[in-house]
Amino acid sequence: MTSKKIETALVAAGRSKRYTQGSVNSVIQRASSLVFDTVADKKRATAGRANGELFYGRRGTLTHFSLQDAMTELEGGAGCVLYPCGAAAVANAILAFVNAGDNVLMSGSVYEPTQDFCTKILSKLNVSTTWFDHCIGSEIADLVQPNTRVVFLESPASITMEVQDIPSIVAAVRSKAPDAIIMVDNTWGAGILFRALDFGVDISIQAATKYLVGHSDAMIGTAVANERCWAQLRENSYLMGQMVDADTAYVTSRGLRTLAVRLRQHQESSIQVAQWLAERDEVERVNHPALPQCKGHEFWKRDFSGCSGLFSFVLKERLSSERLAHYLDNFSHFSMAYSWGGYESLILANQPEELAAIRPAGGVDFSGTLVRVHIGLEHVDDLIEDLRAGFDRLSQ
Ligand SMILES: Cc1ncc(COP(=O)(O)O)c(C=O)c1O
Repeated sequence: MTSKKIETALVAAGRSKRYTQGSVNSVIQRASSLVFDTVADKKRATAGRANGELFYGRRGTLTHFSLQDAMTELEGGAGCVLYPCGAAAVANAILAFVNAGDNVLMSGSVYEPTQDFCTKILSKLNVSTTWFDHCIGSEIADLVQPNTRVVFLESPASITMEVQDIPSIVAAVRSKAPDAIIMVDNTWGAGILFRALDFGVDISIQAATKYLVGHSDAMIGTAVANERCWAQLRENSYLMGQMVDADTAYVTSRGLRTLAVRLRQHQESSIQVAQWLAERDEVERVNHPALPQCKGHEFWKRDFSGCSGLFSFVLKERLSSERLAHYLDNFSHFSMAYSWGGYESLILANQPEELAAIRPAGGVDFSGTLVRVHIGLEHVDDLIEDLRAGFDRLSQ
């Protein structure tokens, strides 16, 4: 674990002279072939190909090594694998550890494509999935089976934002299945607001597409593994052809430099908007981890060092399709998009039955329309005005 403050670590990480070669940022080394001057050089590169020697493009170049070193330091792991997107990171991290006949224990509130990967791909490989809706370890201990090989968490939950008691889940899993690999989709916390590996998680996965890139213009996934998982994750992912281009690795490293400042603003504005929403008559509940009314708020308070800009709120009313379209189509500063984590504000909505359809373990306990917002870096007063106008549209 780094002793530097996180802001300092984010500025410095991955910027050794080998990678920057006299500039401030890492060089962009685009390469498939990496050439060897001598037979001895080729031998050295081959022997060190998994440990930072320039060997072949798919193993990475200086640009990739710079980002991988940075992520390893920032998340406190033994190494970091880069993937072409977050979904590839999730799929390949799981695939690296399961065998036919194994079981995956999975939170039922993970990102929908992660669920689909289990039902549509793992099932074909004879790997079963057990879903759970619980946020605390004592409630999932009985679900751990002798063949449970991977336990997969996402905290806060996708869309509904429940925060899990990860230390108690880790303890429960370790007591029943010490060899199971525990993974968390740590995208919301950008890998730094929740230091997953410090809490006993084996692999911290991010759709770095979101906050690390930060500008909605590139796709990349990261998985930082602890010592016991690193070699297996690295080699399996390599064999699955997982890599990202040097330019994307570069913009991800660049995103790290401003991550703390951006997150601080996402946090400040998102809390202000969430508190404003909590006072509105139209709103039943605000699912923002920093608000006491959010499920698992106490775990967020204990385990996270801050919050980002994504949260949801539930309306008292279930809006008809027409009213929902009128509400969503007319915002000035909130656009509709599936991704998040960039500098811009976003909005999407789900009806309760749509959410119930992607909650294999249940847990949808509301009947109003749910609205998910990403609070960007615009001035918060403008965002609140826009949301106020949205409520005015609903009352017309
Ligand atoms: C929590 C979470 N994990 C993973 C992903 C997948 O990331 P990507 O779009 O980079 O494949 C997303 C994308 O929205 C996400 O929200």
